[in-house]
Amino acid sequence: MKVFQKLDDFLDFAWVQISRGKVDKKSPARHPTFVTSSVDGLPNARTLVMRRSDRKNNQIEFHTDTASSKMLALEKNPRAGIHIWLPKVQLQIQMDVFVEVKVGDITIPYWKNVPTNSRVSYGTIPSPGNVLENPFAYDHAPDQKRFAVLVCDIQSIQLLLLGVKHIRAYYKKTTNWQGEWLSP
Ligand SMILES: Cc1cc2nc3c(=O)[nH]c(=O)nc-3n(C[C@H](O)[C@H](O)[C@H](O)COP(=O)(O)O)c2cc1C
Repeated sequence: MKVFQKLDDFLDFAWVQISRGKVDKKSPARHPTFVTSSVDGLPNARTLVMRRSDRKNNQIEFHTDTASSKMLALEKNPRAGIHIWLPKVQLQIQMDVFVEVKVGDITIPYWKNVPTNSRVSYGTIPSPGNVLENPFAYDHAPDQKRFAVLVCDIQSIQLLLLGVKHIRAYYKKTTNWQGEWLSP
């Protein structure tokens, strides 16, 4: 088990794990849980693929279908939670983010980088979440206009490392990621 005496070292370690989400298909950081507040106030959690992480700018990026319910939720409340559990290193990462939703022509450069076989995720007919007569009563109609990029500006990061003695820390953007230890 890793032992961290310094807050900065602990945060560095977490960012190494987050960054693996993009490059290592086997890393659990590739599939964070993305949590929004729905219009009726209830939390709504789902798995998304992490498309990019950028420590320098404190950002994480996801892609989604503009017709999915998370879009309406983000329109009402652009804050979201992100959760990652990394069993191999026994680390839980929780983030609080502001989500900038990009749609329309601004997404064309992103769309060009989406592999053709992945584009089917953006444009399902009927829209995601609609009731079907049977499980396969839907079509794929890949459409750049149904493609959204969710740029998440990280506001805080909370880490919990399990071990003989657990350690927990909280970092926020407003204090320039200085961090503080928390009781686990
Ligand atoms: C492993 C996995 C990866 C997924 N990746 C994405 C993704 O990158 N983007 C996305 O919109 N949905 C993705 N989904 C589907 C979402 O979890 C969710 O079902 C869908 O986006 C509809 O969510 P909503 O109705 O809450 O908006 C993924 C699901 C799984 C199981």
